[in-house]
Amino acid sequence: MTFHRIVAAAALAVATVTAPALAADKLVVGFSQIGSESGWRAAETKVAKMEAEKRGIDLRISDAQQKEENQIKAVRSFIAQGVDAIFIAPVVATGWESVLKEAKDAKIPVILLDRGIDVKDDSLYLTVVRSDAVYEGQAAGDWLVKATKGKCNVVELQGTVGASVAIDRKKGFDKVVAENPQMKIIRTQSGDFTRAKGKEVMESFIKAENGGKNICAMYAHNDDMAIGGIQAIKESGLKPGKDILVVSIDGVPDIFNAMAEGEANATVELTPNMAGPAFDALVAFKTGGKVPPKWIKTETKLYQPDVAKSEYQRRKDLY
Ligand code: AHR
Repeated sequence: MTFHRIVAAAALAVATVTAPALAADKLVVGFSQIGSESGWRAAETKVAKMEAEKRGIDLRISDAQQKEENQIKAVRSFIAQGVDAIFIAPVVATGWESVLKEAKDAKIPVILLDRGIDVKDDSLYLTVVRSDAVYEGQAAGDWLVKATKGKCNVVELQGTVGASVAIDRKKGFDKVVAENPQMKIIRTQSGDFTRAKGKEVMESFIKAENGGKNICAMYAHNDDMAIGGIQAIKESGLKPGKDILVVSIDGVPDIFNAMAEGEANATVELTPNMAGPAFDALVAFKTGGKVPPKWIKTETKLYQPDVAKSEYQRRKDLY
């Protein structure tokens, strides 16, 4: 569905609900969002607002600016406000036990969006809506094996240190590398999921690897770092997408643009609609006591340049 159709559908849905019933039943959800490190993240926030509006939910978003301590403060503030539920996109996987225990004691269900956490007691959250990030890394690796017949020196731009998606995307890709003896990760470092750091790290890789001539491919844990890396490759005088292959994860419009220009080769899509399935699970739980599965898994799909132009058009207004 296009952005305009989504907006029209949301407007229709809101218009068909009678105002008094909506006001009386309005669910209040606090959402601790990580920040705005990437195009994907901005889209996730935008879609969350649209999905809340569609359902007449009062969504209160707190921007943690990439810091777990801000997320913990936000969760405590939501508990104090007595919200009906709390959504968290956890910046890192560890350190959540005590604040989630506080939410549980206050009988406020918690739903995790797009990243997982490490806790011994999984009753501390109702469900998590996220992709299989190990599979995403594997899909990127499998594509590269096909493109290079399994012979390739790879540099890797990792996501935020300690984030579940960075750990899992590495794990999935490493698995493919382990099965292909002529494929090697020659450099790997975090670019914190941002364009600026992706560019900076790629510049240092190029410098260390004979002006980039030793590098066959760049694998970035998200498209924004890939776009920063593409810039670094261009500035070094090499051609991204040709001299150095580019594979990344997310499916944001700019990577489709880069693919249409021949500067990127493949992206593994991560849907920005994490909030929609989370709201549905929450409403079913609140109204009918339906306990959702512990993991609501979103779909994963790899895209290549053949559809780059149409995918760019389809996505550009949503992101
Ligand atoms: O957790 C999802 C990841 O976080 C996205 O792939 C990345 O762009 C974002 O910063």
